[in-house]
Amino acid sequence: MSTRTIAALGLLLLSVPDALAQQASDTVAPERATGLASAKVVTAKEHMVAAAHPLAAEAGEQVLAAGGSAIDAMVAVQTVLGLVEPQSSGLGGGAFLVYYDAGAKRIVTLDGRETAPMEATPKLFLDDKGEPMQFFDAVVGGRSVGTPGTVMLMQEAHNRWGRTPWKDLFAPAEKLARDGFTVSPRLAGLIAAEGDRLKAFDATTAYFFGADGTPLKAGTVLKNPAYAETLSAIAKGGAPAFYGGAIAEAIVDTVRMAGKNAGVLSLADLANYQVKVRQPVCVEYRALEVCGMGPPSSGAVAIGQMLGMLENFDLRALGKDNPESWRLIGDAQRLAFADRERYLADTDFVPAPIKGLLAKSYLGERAGLLDGDKALGEDAATSGKPEWDHASNFGRDAAIELPSTSHFVIVDKEGNVVSMTTTIENGFGSRLMTGGFLLNNEITDFSFKTHDEGLPVANRVEPRKRPRSSMSPTIVLKDGKPLLAIGSPGGSQIIGYVAQALVAYIDWEMDVGEIVAMPHLINRFGPYDLEAGTDAEKLAEPLKALGYEVKLSEMNSGLHAIELSAEGLRGAADPRREGVAAGK
Ligand code: DON
Repeated sequence: MSTRTIAALGLLLLSVPDALAQQASDTVAPERATGLASAKVVTAKEHMVAAAHPLAAEAGEQVLAAGGSAIDAMVAVQTVLGLVEPQSSGLGGGAFLVYYDAGAKRIVTLDGRETAPMEATPKLFLDDKGEPMQFFDAVVGGRSVGTPGTVMLMQEAHNRWGRTPWKDLFAPAEKLARDGFTVSPRLAGLIAAEGDRLKAFDATTAYFFGADGTPLKAGTVLKNPAYAETLSAIAKGGAPAFYGGAIAEAIVDTVRMAGKNAGVLSLADLANYQVKVRQPVCVEYRALEVCGMGPPSSGAVAIGQMLGMLENFDLRALGKDNPESWRLIGDAQRLAFADRERYLADTDFVPAPIKGLLAKSYLGERAGLLDGDKALGEDAATSGKPEWDHASNFGRDAAIELPSTSHFVIVDKEGNVVSMTTTIENGFGSRLMTGGFLLNNEITDFSFKTHDEGLPVANRVEPRKRPRSSMSPTIVLKDGKPLLAIGSPGGSQIIGYVAQALVAYIDWEMDVGEIVAMPHLINRFGPYDLEAGTDAEKLAEPLKALGYEVKLSEMNSGLHAIELSAEGLRGAADPRREGVAAGK
């Protein structure tokens, strides 16, 4: 059976709503390449970019070659990605940046996450009967749109660490938008898979479909003059040109006039948007420091918890092909997810026991639950009782996360490192388009349910709150210096993708090309997802024998990584997507 047939079979094994969601989501990879032993490894001495599209990587590489900083290159990469990979990230979305500042020798994290509108209430996603809405009923339209953060993040980062004049960084994307770029097989496949959902609004239909209603085909040269105009305005006027004036008015009108699912975003939401400098979350693992994004992302805490539990076991001796390694990894992930769904949310609104969740004593105790030789039972895979700094307790939430998103990494010749995950949430976000870019549906990353067994849910909607994320841009430090920058899209599977790559790199000494390509095995909620059509399937029977329910699934990560080795830079792009690494 071919890889493709096995992958299709995997899709059939999903429940019907899961399968529909996956078909509609950004995980559908028309040019999928799984089961590869390794992705191509690109080497360079001075600088490098690894991103999800060759045109984006090229734009960033050219900025670096002209003497720009990693942050300058980030602006060029992001603005090109917003054009050529519009379904995944862009000006209408949000992002997290984990940055190693070589001058100051420290990690800084910037939170450019979308915020809930001031007029939003915890009942935003409940229907007339008080029941949670169907996911796509909530997503498509203005209700799901949060105040975008990506433009302000680019501006804030550039104010701090930029070298190239701001306006010059928009030129590559503006030129491509005016002259046209070639629609990739992946983008064409995703438009076709979306079908009518992408036709809900006129501006979006006009952009992604021909006059006869057929989806754009791969190879079509697509121009986006509206995007070029938007970029030109931001290039001249900076972030204020986006958060006020004509662009902001068009965003608000688009959201508030989106038919029966109109939203409540206002000009005041845009005018008041702030990027936040957050405390990085760093954990020690096998004498390395693994640093990432704290709340409102759950990424670094969940990865830190997994690693903290796994540190108690000799994964190196067990090896990557041993079902026992995957029992430990899978159940460590389930325990981390049980804590995540109860405790983690935007800490500007709800207290979260971050210190307690990452305490060695607590994780040692949780690791004790993995001492047996069978899969954890449902009763055991529940949230624990970390030490609390505040007196609050929360119910378990029910946030639905479906894939799109992009991750890129950049290293400049001074050794500054960008690890950035950027998103408009679902594939094609809210499906609303204005100014040549799509608006996010990030607000559906909140729990639709406000309470659970009488307790409020930490990740419930509240005005100006940021929805909990799984995005996990990561930088690993050795002796205080960056060793590896990595991250991935993939909704809540991001946490598993990144944690697995870290274990593979650190414990199994796998190469950067191997860690982005290796088959995925992820266990968040009990059933063990194995990547269909790959060697992961060989573990299906052994894992069943350990007591797991096993599901073969499409698992379309987009891991991009750069290793900063003694010999130079080594970068690789996930073969499941269209990205590349490029450097000099
Ligand atoms: O912030 C989050 O965790 C999600 N909105 C990210 C969505 C995502 O990664 C979809 N991926 N393929």
